[in-house]
Amino acid sequence: MAGVSSTSLTIAEGVSIPVIGFGTYKIDPKECYAVVKNALKAGYRHIDTAEFYKNEVEVAAAMKDSGIKREEMFVTSKVWDARGEKAVRELLTGTLKAMGLKYIDLYLIHSPNGGRLVETYEAMLKLRDEGLVRAVGVSNFGVHHLEGLAEAKLEPPAVNQIELHPFLQQEKIVSYCKKNNIAVEAYSPLTAGKFIKHETITKIASQIGKGNANIMIRWSIQSGFIVLPKSTDPDRIKQNFDVFSWALSEEQMTELNALEADEHTTWDPTTVPWQG
Ligand code: A2P
Repeated sequence: MAGVSSTSLTIAEGVSIPVIGFGTYKIDPKECYAVVKNALKAGYRHIDTAEFYKNEVEVAAAMKDSGIKREEMFVTSKVWDARGEKAVRELLTGTLKAMGLKYIDLYLIHSPNGGRLVETYEAMLKLRDEGLVRAVGVSNFGVHHLEGLAEAKLEPPAVNQIELHPFLQQEKIVSYCKKNNIAVEAYSPLTAGKFIKHETITKIASQIGKGNANIMIRWSIQSGFIVLPKSTDPDRIKQNFDVFSWALSEEQMTELNALEADEHTTWDPTTVPWQG
């Protein structure tokens, strides 16, 4: 089977996102600059950060010092709690200033917690219309949260970023997103290391001659997701990017799909009530 998959997806008009992004959750701000520089050197062009990670400034500094043109890189950040128009505007303008950037490529509501989702989301759309953000989306949204936005007659988010891997396939959310043209981003695609050594993953990795992490990342890409693996190790950062010159067979995809176990390795945001 040919190995080539598209290396990017269109998530909004004129906005193309690399299908593999580099996750930076829990990367210590002190380490983050060097780690992101390694990722950019290894070929990643998409970096995922957040207000909550406290490393946005280090991510931006690594981007700036990489020598890569800004328009060739894609950076996502996220607003922690939904908090209304004034606060989100102040937050974004302050963040852009601190990062030394004119715009963020993708801006997400980090979770359905916070209580002012509609107002915050509308404010983010305005910031996009003003050119401070290229696309707006959400993270950790379940179907009822996405329906809440739709009922408020708001345009669908460009993406929904959720925990996703063969052991947690989030079928209901993924099928809602597919139906409504919302791209799905997979965080914790390596189960934070928990199931990386599972026997089925190990077997397929040895059949293909790649690492176990590569199998999990490639599963996400072939499932149509944008995938956000993390590592602080330079060799693993490089190795994890080796997912475009080969492919999983249909049979191997079926075996991986059979690993579904409803295993949240982080948290289950679908239990959060809609708080428009
Ligand atoms: P490390 O930073 O030491 O490489 P996730 O992306 O699901 O959150 O998983 C991140 C975890 O997976 C980190 O603990 C990371 O450790 C580990 N990890 C990343 N890449 C690999 C790899 N190629 N092999 C083994 N563990 C990996």
